Amino acid sequence: MARKKLIAGNWKMNCLLENGTALAKAVAEKVKAQKYNCDFLICPPFTLLGAVKKCLRGSKIALGAQDVHFAEFGAHTGDISPLMLTDIGCKYVIIGHSERRTDHGESNSLVKKKAIAAHQAGLITVICIGETGAERDASKTIEVCQNEISRSVPENATAQNTVIAYEPIWAIGTGKTPTAQDVQEVHAAIRSALAKKLGKAVADRMRILYGGSVKPNNAAELLTLPDVDGALIGGASLKADDFVAIAANALK
Ligand code: 13P
Repeated sequence: MARKKLIAGNWKMNCLLENGTALAKAVAEKVKAQKYNCDFLICPPFTLLGAVKKCLRGSKIALGAQDVHFAEFGAHTGDISPLMLTDIGCKYVIIGHSERRTDHGESNSLVKKKAIAAHQAGLITVICIGETGAERDASKTIEVCQNEISRSVPENATAQNTVIAYEPIWAIGTGKTPTAQDVQEVHAAIRSALAKKLGKAVADRMRILYGGSVKPNNAAELLTLPDVDGALIGGASLKADDFVAIAANALK
């Protein structure tokens, strides 16, 4: 089953107007200069969505946000709705990143509620799952991922409106990654869990990204595994050269 790879940058809580727009422009220029057979996505903080959208005009890089509320409008101080995201030009939204699950206590049921609302607004969700270091040491990785797929992903999710990102929490920002064999094993288990929940046809088409210390020098090994359909990149997405080199190395 051919799945087009997705190379996604999660800028997290980084960049101000000046360096954020410079970064987006630099990425757009580099992506335009080569023919890459993949999709690109940039997810800046909310404050930069409008400015980055302008920088990406005419490029094939999609815009995404890092979180969303489930309500359309209303008394939710500090929150941003799915309609606000589509209104400003977002195509994607990351939901359930481990930093939101940890920092803001987001549960699987909240993640699912947000995903349903985002789909209704026409957004593609990137739903994040992954185990802690302690869970990995206790050999619970696959059990944790199966549980998160079962509880965080809406029952009517499709390959068109949903992307899964497997991000082992212990690999985020640490420079550590699982072995290629472990990544493939977990991704295959995630695809089986998706097949059980959504049917094999949907699971075969749904993209499963790997995230956690993806760099230009490990991209080829990780992103050419059969069940790895792209990357969700944190630190390395803040350097235009590294972000684009990941795509170049993985897809050559
Ligand atoms: P790093 O690439 O910095 O490890 O971050 C991964 C991540 O959390 C992307 O969402």
